[in-house]
Parts: sequence; C-alpha cells; structure tokens
Amino acid sequence: MRIDILTLFPDMFASFLEGSLLGAARAAGLLDIRVTNIRDFAEGIHRQVDDRPFGGGPGMLLMPGPVVACVEQVQGLGEQAGGGDRPPVGHLVMLTPGGRRLTQEVVESLARQERIVLLCGRYEGFDDRVRETLQPDEISIGDYVLSGGEVAAMVIVDAVARLVPGVLGDEESARQDSFSGAERLVEGPQYTRPREFRGLRVPDVLLSGDHGRIAQWRHEQAVDATRRRSPAQPQRSLQ
Ligand SMILES: C[S@@+](CC[C@H](N)C(=O)[O-])C[C@H]1O[C@@H](n2cnc3c(N)ncnc32)[C@H](O)[C@@H]1O
Repeated sequence: MRIDILTLFPDMFASFLEGSLLGAARAAGLLDIRVTNIRDFAEGIHRQVDDRPFGGGPGMLLMPGPVVACVEQVQGLGEQAGGGDRPPVGHLVMLTPGGRRLTQEVVESLARQERIVLLCGRYEGFDDRVRETLQPDEISIGDYVLSGGEVAAMVIVDAVARLVPGVLGDEESARQDSFSGAERLVEGPQYTRPREFRGLRVPDVLLSGDHGRIAQWRHEQAVDATRRRSPAQPQRSLQ
C-alpha cells in the first residue's frame, strides 16, 4: 500500500516512520510511505503558503494555490503532472476537525485502498476553495482541535498500517482487537504471568485449557466491557 503525506512539517514524520512496526513494514516493502512538503509548491522568494483571512479574524489560512498544486502533483493531476483528464491517483483525505469521525470502520475502508493521500492543515486551516476544488474525504480524529494535521495523519497511518496484510506478525490479532469483527465489541480483560499478583488471581476459566469455555467467557466479557463504556456523547450541541 502507498501512503502520501502532504505537510508543511515533514521533519515531524522522521522518527515516527522509523518506529518498530512501520519501519519493519516499510523495509519489507509492505508499505510505501512518502512525505511531501507543501511549501515546495509555493511561489516567490518567500515561499508563502498562508495569508490573513478575508473579512478579518485571527490567524492565518493556508492559501489554495500551493496546497492544490501539491495535491495535484502527488495525484498525477493537472498540466504540470501531465495528468490531463485522468482520474486522481489515490484516495484523498483532508484532515480537519469538522470532518467525519475516524472509527475502526473508516480505518478498515481506508486500508482497502491501494493508495491514500493525507493532507495536513496548519494555522487556522484551509481556504475553503481547497475543499471545493479537490472534494476530499474530510476526516476528523475527534471533537477537539490540534495545532496541525500531522498528529492526525500519524493516527491514521498507524491504525491503517496494522490492517495491511503482513504488517502484524499475527493477522488474527487485528481481527480480535477492539471495534473489529461483526459485533465491534471492545476487548475484555486479558492476563499474563504471574497467575496471582497482589492477591488478584487470573480467572480459573483461562487456566482450564477448555477452549470452548474460554471463547465463550471472552465473548461475555467483551459484551460486558462494551456495555460498561460510557455512552457516546452527543457530537454537537446546536442550542
Ligand atoms: C488549528 S487547526 C484549525 C482549526 C480550524 N480553525 C477550526 O476551527 O476548525 C489546524 C489544522 O489542524 C488539523 N486538525 C486540528 N484538529 C483536528 C482534528 N480533530 N482532526 C483532524 N485534523 C485536525 C487540521 O488539518 C487543521 O487544518
């Protein structure tokens, strides 16, 4: 799978991409992750990428020119990239607090793509004509505001990479993780050695060797754990 990350802060990704799971997956050729600096597509000696919002207001907005030029180059569009009328290459994701919420289901759908392009915002975000021109899949990692899309892009890369065949040593582990499978349950309690820790004993059923009973107990625990989770807060209050 190929993932392109478009950012004004490419250095933020260096150690992240070399980390144990991603570093090994890239070395094995399972993931091709490339980072492109949006500033390389800015014009003028100052390579300006942001400007004040029309109508006033705090902060700076990302100008459409450099952002759209960068995306078009990476997606093989536009005259410069020789794209002609060809469809864009890869599924374009714009990281934005107002986008659809990232869930395991969304992660799974992204992992099914051959190629994704993650567009990171900064400052007060994007001039809206970026969205109008490119019509990206707008994704938010939660109802809070980060300083930039880089951390959100890392969240997506990490979650998607786990689902790329061969990246995890044991494929079964991703299938059993929280929010996975048909029921999308959260995982119940798990235990390793010692059998007793500060008076707390590992449940007998897990030591029984009876795989049928163990599977049934785990499922019951996962159902309980899912019910105990606090109900999702309403996403927005419009009053
Ligand atoms: C400071 S934020 C801009 C916030 C914007 N003024 C607003 O109120 O929606 C700068 C950039 O960080 C990224 N970002 C911030 N919060 C995010 C979130 N919850 N999910 C995804 N990206 C986020 C986006 O790329 C955004 O363009």
